[in-house]
Amino acid sequence: MVVDHDLESGRQTTATLEGEGYIVRRAESGIAALKMMREEPVDLVLADMTMPGMDGMQFLANVKEMHPDTDVIVLTGYGTIEDAVEAMRRGAADFLPRPYRPRELTRLTASVLRARSASREEAFQAQSAALLELAYILARTADIHSLPAQAVELARESFDADSAIILTYEEALSRVTVLAHAGRMLASWGKSEDLSAQAMESIRQRRLLLSAEVGSSNCYAYVPLIVADRPRGALCLRRDGGPWFHEKTTELLEIFSSHLALSLETTHLYHQASQQVAEMEELITVSHELALDADSESICQQLLAGAGRITGAQTCAVVLWKDGHPIMRTSPELQPGSLVEQAIRDTMLSVSGQAAPSSRASVAMPHEARRMAQSFLSAPIQLTDHTYGLLAVFSDSPNAFGVDDTRRLTALASHAASGMANVSALERVSAMYFDTIESISTLVDATNEYTLGHSRQVRTYAGALARALGLPQDEICLIEDGALLHDIGKLCIPQSILSKPGPLTAEEFAIVASHPAHGANMFKDAPHMQEVLPILRHHHEFWDGSGYPDGIAGTAIPVGARIVALADMLDALVSNRIYRSALSFDQARGMIAERAGGQFDPEQAKVFLEIDLESLVEY
Ligand SMILES: [Fe+2]
Repeated sequence: MVVDHDLESGRQTTATLEGEGYIVRRAESGIAALKMMREEPVDLVLADMTMPGMDGMQFLANVKEMHPDTDVIVLTGYGTIEDAVEAMRRGAADFLPRPYRPRELTRLTASVLRARSASREEAFQAQSAALLELAYILARTADIHSLPAQAVELARESFDADSAIILTYEEALSRVTVLAHAGRMLASWGKSEDLSAQAMESIRQRRLLLSAEVGSSNCYAYVPLIVADRPRGALCLRRDGGPWFHEKTTELLEIFSSHLALSLETTHLYHQASQQVAEMEELITVSHELALDADSESICQQLLAGAGRITGAQTCAVVLWKDGHPIMRTSPELQPGSLVEQAIRDTMLSVSGQAAPSSRASVAMPHEARRMAQSFLSAPIQLTDHTYGLLAVFSDSPNAFGVDDTRRLTALASHAASGMANVSALERVSAMYFDTIESISTLVDATNEYTLGHSRQVRTYAGALARALGLPQDEICLIEDGALLHDIGKLCIPQSILSKPGPLTAEEFAIVASHPAHGANMFKDAPHMQEVLPILRHHHEFWDGSGYPDGIAGTAIPVGARIVALADMLDALVSNRIYRSALSFDQARGMIAERAGGQFDPEQAKVFLEIDLESLVEY
């Protein structure tokens, strides 16, 4: 740019420089020159020091403010050497006294431009180093959170920008959002400069775009981040008050950006893969737990916890169909009948019949519930053709669930369906076992008209005592089964002895007394009956050791056997027998109390006698 108010001198200077192959602009005043430079920056200005209007010194100050890296050679002549020195002090690259010969002009111009390109080379090297640094950062961190922050700061420093921003491009929504920024705050990006619009434009055109802000001379660079031909975002740089992004810088910026895009993509994939591994582990853990659960309530609770963990949903709900009725459980637990609970129930039931995963609530929800259920995703709990229920998750943010969530929720629901199938198979087997031992006990009781219903009644008394003693539920069930079968060994005793009206001979008594051992023997090879065997064998042992068949005493007699002994005795006393009539409950209590510590465990007997036994009579 040649700025000279003397037309002839300006023309000559321009012609000389054009003769050397430079592209030259010419202005006749400082104001005109600044206007032209605002539209297009230049590398070098040759400025007359004595211009009317804006003088040379003032013009120099304006140029340096607008484009600090533009070089200025001042043309002196009418002024003094002091002016030239002052101009150099204020940032001029050199001075040329008038009148000058063409050779002096071209020599000085070439020298200033050479020095300028050397300093550019330095910047180029610094920016090349940024690429290496980026590779180093990537090698060090695969952390999706720290990489963007480190990379954006590196870009800002290396490309001498005042602000830098990395935006991510969301293809589905066709918009960009800020991933990381460095330098001045976003709000100061520019009044007339629309960050998103410019970044989107660079993504659309798939090339680096440069722009300058009118009035402030701020310069901007927008570089799309592209991986495998797919735009992933943009890197945006701003230099407050310039200088312009020169060609070599933009070349490097493009290389830097392609590395950055690849780094971000790699980190993203790594993060996604680790997350998937963690989620798969979570799914496997939940599935294992589901397989271990023995009832539908535990499956519900496992499902709610698992669905929350693998999808990050705030609210989870399960509906299970039990005998044609829906049973709903939610996490967090909701007030039954509340608006939200009702809305969730309606939503769940409306999609319950659907075989495929559903992602939209199809019923009108009250305001409160709608806010909570901006996103909805459900998966049927089904195995082959049987549907056990529905699993659903809700989130208060829109589009909260993706394809991965659908896949994971479906997998979880199908594991739950297997769990449910196990539970119902277990329930069927238990029912079968229960029916079987009940039939056997009826058979035992039927050996004698006086003992009809005896086994079931003993089970009731034994169960009540076991509960009163505070035993765990598993053990109570076991004791009840043992009580039901306690006399099964009597099937091996001749009918004639069992129904003998008079007293038994010693020989006959020995035969009857063998029934506990016979009972235990009958089931000794049945793996699932092992736990009730001690009750069958020892229900005639005495606390003081004088019972049979083994004569063991005290706590050596299994707890269940001691309980069944008490229950057995009570029912025998209050029932008619072939050799005597039934006693009253009070008489029976008296006899049991007398035998506590002798025949019976004294502590158990005490607890037993406190129970309202009359209310337990079944026949
Ligand atoms: Fe017995």
